Amino acid sequence: MIREQEFMDKLSETRRYIIEKINMEPQMGIILGSGLGGFVELIEDKVSIPYQEIPNFPVSTVEGHKGQLVFGKVLGKPVVAMQGRFHFYEGYPMQEVTFPVRVMQVLGVSGLIVTNAAGGINPAYRPGDLVLLKDHINMMGDNPLRGANLSNLGPRFPDLSEGYDLEWRQKALTIAREVGIYPQEGIYAAMSGPSYESPAEIRFLRTVGADLVGMSTVPEVIVANHGGMRVLGISCVTNMAAGILSQRLSHAEVMETAERIEKQFVRFVQALVKGLA
Ligand code: HPA
Repeated sequence: MIREQEFMDKLSETRRYIIEKINMEPQMGIILGSGLGGFVELIEDKVSIPYQEIPNFPVSTVEGHKGQLVFGKVLGKPVVAMQGRFHFYEGYPMQEVTFPVRVMQVLGVSGLIVTNAAGGINPAYRPGDLVLLKDHINMMGDNPLRGANLSNLGPRFPDLSEGYDLEWRQKALTIAREVGIYPQEGIYAAMSGPSYESPAEIRFLRTVGADLVGMSTVPEVIVANHGGMRVLGISCVTNMAAGILSQRLSHAEVMETAERIEKQFVRFVQALVKGLA
């Protein structure tokens, strides 16, 4: 289990390494989910730092897994984007999955946009829909705040009653319409993966109120809330979840839909950065 002082020392070391390379203070963080990597092309005056060069960042176990932090400006607003995230299913402990969010926190980031690809459970959804998250259900069987509380970073028992900031969600709906996007709103259930859910699990999740299912996001959102950040979550429905349609799931379908929607998704996130920052 991590000891508080040890963790804070690591975090300071990482922060020092990064601030030597950048000449701006990012205001907003963006976690880019599957198929949204193209967003970094909109970032100007970029400084990109590969994860493997950043002290104390998790070491990638997956071959060919490229990931980097990209600092720069989007329509004049200073941001940091994570191109590639660490998933719980890859075997990282929750504290490592969420380490980049802590780094953002100590760099002064006060708002976080978290994106992902997800399976649609709500039968009104269609693959390709964008969904603003209004809440989540943590079914991962773990919590990134388990263990000694990092009392310099946030409270022991953080409130999640507005884990996805209400004002930001309302603004996001307005901004979406302005750019011709009509997102759904829904509740995201996080499973540990990496297997997709069984049809019975999806029936269970539907019964308990989930509209979407995925394998990410919730750890990062919990830590961001602990750290006092405002959060906006957006899912791209890349497929209908298991058993909703009489067809099988494939990673290929997930990637195809994510690619098909990428331009629209990127446009939306760009407008959000401008409108929310
Ligand atoms: N289940 C879990 N995670 C996912 C899915 C799904 O159906 N689609 C994309 N990510």
